[in-house]
Amino acid sequence: MRIPRHHLFVCTGPHCGEKGSAPLINGFRRAAEKLGVEEQVMVTNMGSVYLCDLGPVVLVYPDDVWYTHVLPPDCEEIVREHLVGGRPVERLRLLPSTPSERAREEIYRALFAEGKMDAEAFARLASAHGFGEDFVAEQLKRKFVNKSPEGTITPTAKMKERYETS
Ligand code: FES
Repeated sequence: MRIPRHHLFVCTGPHCGEKGSAPLINGFRRAAEKLGVEEQVMVTNMGSVYLCDLGPVVLVYPDDVWYTHVLPPDCEEIVREHLVGGRPVERLRLLPSTPSERAREEIYRALFAEGKMDAEAFARLASAHGFGEDFVAEQLKRKFVNKSPEGTITPTAKMKERYETS
């Protein structure tokens, strides 16, 4: 029985899949073969981890490193630098302390506190944290917020799953 040193979980849920995550599985396997570490690396798919606006998402265990916005050209760099070299690829890494992640959490928590906001207020809140219309559109598309026909923005259970602790 082979127990790999690293297990890469590639999200192939509907949102990451729409953004092209499926080819990452073979991309990582090919990169591991090229670098001669295929015996040490297992690559499998997984379902959504509720970071759908940041996909494609890849988790690396046992290192507990989460990557977002991963594209096929990134596979070799992740295998070479992280799995072989022991240095996670910081430009793709998501941590609670990542500035953009802290900003997202502040936006979400403000919406939780209000319960609902009109669309203009939500756009202003996003803008105050450095995000534009594309951010708001992505939150709607990936179902972190709902927008009523009257233009009211409300948080979804999916958003609460991501940030709400109580
Ligand atoms: S579909 Fe990949 S995190 Fe949701």
